[in-house]
Amino acid sequence: MTDIVSQDIEWVIKDLQKFSNKLEGKNILIVGGKGFLGTYFVKILQTLNKSFTKPCKIIVLDNLITAKHKETFDDSNTKFIEQDISKKFDIEDDLDFIIHSASIASPIVYRKFPLKTIDVNYQGTRNLLELARQKNIEGMLLLSSSEVYGDPAIVPTPESYWGHVSCTGPRACYDESKRLAETVAILYSQLYNVPIKIARPFNVYGPYLNLEDGRIIPDFIKNSLDHSEIIIHSDGTPTRSFCYVTDAMKAFFKILLLPPGGSIFNVGNDEEISVHGVAETIKKIINPSIKIKIQKSSDPNYVIDNPQRRCPNLEYITNTLDFIPEISLQQGIERIYSWYKVNSN
Ligand SMILES: NC(=O)c1ccc[n+]([C@@H]2O[C@H](COP(=O)([O-])OP(=O)(O)OC[C@H]3O[C@@H](n4cnc5c(N)ncnc54)[C@H](O)[C@@H]3O)[C@@H](O)[C@H]2O)c1
Repeated sequence: MTDIVSQDIEWVIKDLQKFSNKLEGKNILIVGGKGFLGTYFVKILQTLNKSFTKPCKIIVLDNLITAKHKETFDDSNTKFIEQDISKKFDIEDDLDFIIHSASIASPIVYRKFPLKTIDVNYQGTRNLLELARQKNIEGMLLLSSSEVYGDPAIVPTPESYWGHVSCTGPRACYDESKRLAETVAILYSQLYNVPIKIARPFNVYGPYLNLEDGRIIPDFIKNSLDHSEIIIHSDGTPTRSFCYVTDAMKAFFKILLLPPGGSIFNVGNDEEISVHGVAETIKKIINPSIKIKIQKSSDPNYVIDNPQRRCPNLEYITNTLDFIPEISLQQGIERIYSWYKVNSN
């Protein structure tokens, strides 16, 4: 583990001190566990295991469709199973918790595989909910997305906002199937008492985020490293809000460990910044002499239905879980850049 990742994990574990005993000795399924957030879930649990008298058993599922990095999770309490969750499958172990972090989250990849994106978000989620029901689990966390809000009319956006989403546009395969994943999850909670919790992450970033998958921060860092210029494919005015992975992980674990009750939480940072502002921040950190260029994407769908503003209203999560994001965009980008310098894939 690099220093950056070890320190990230230490911060999260310190924050979870009061709750983490609830995970001791449990069997925990991490789905999409070879992805960016999945890898953090696994590493946090593996590190917690060092302090547990009875370690938890970690079962990682992933079909590796977008998993890029070479982490092997060598550890006697961790087992990896290659599995597409949209197909029928079974897990022989008992399960206490399920963390559902599988999806095709990269806009480049979901436009390439729109039907597989719908399959993992709907059928994959439904298969996991069925598994959760059979195993009578204690808690299941579904990572949904801020994309359920589409291009929102209310910003900062609260959880109660219904969304403004195209059901036929180029982003619909992701946005609409995330919305359906939430619908089916809430139904399993109402009909079968599956203890589901839903988090809607807003642009989470950090080490292990694939440099190639078209999300803004890795994309701009890759541009800077490869071409000494940052290429913006919109006019630079849309806004986003970026949450460093440690802040998001603290929230995810606290949500998972809440008592049952169908809760839905925005998880993010409410520091809103334009895409151009992000490019400026990255330029300052990496190399102040690089240029920022506005250039149409070769993909005509790139900016279609692109949300103009994206910022979470954090009132509910702050009041319920005392959640306050701590890492600024500047600090977070310095951390991810240090990590990419030694780990770019
Ligand atoms: N990172 C963010 O900013 C962000 C924002 C909103 C929502 N989310 C959601 O959080 C979750 C994790 O995101 P991430 O950033 O770690 O993405 P990621 O792409 O790094 O990880 C997703 C993992 O899911 C796996 N996967 C995809 N389809 C699968 C299938 N059918 N069966 C099994 N595994 C499958 C992929 O191989 C990958 O390893 C996703 O559900 C994503 O939609 C993330």
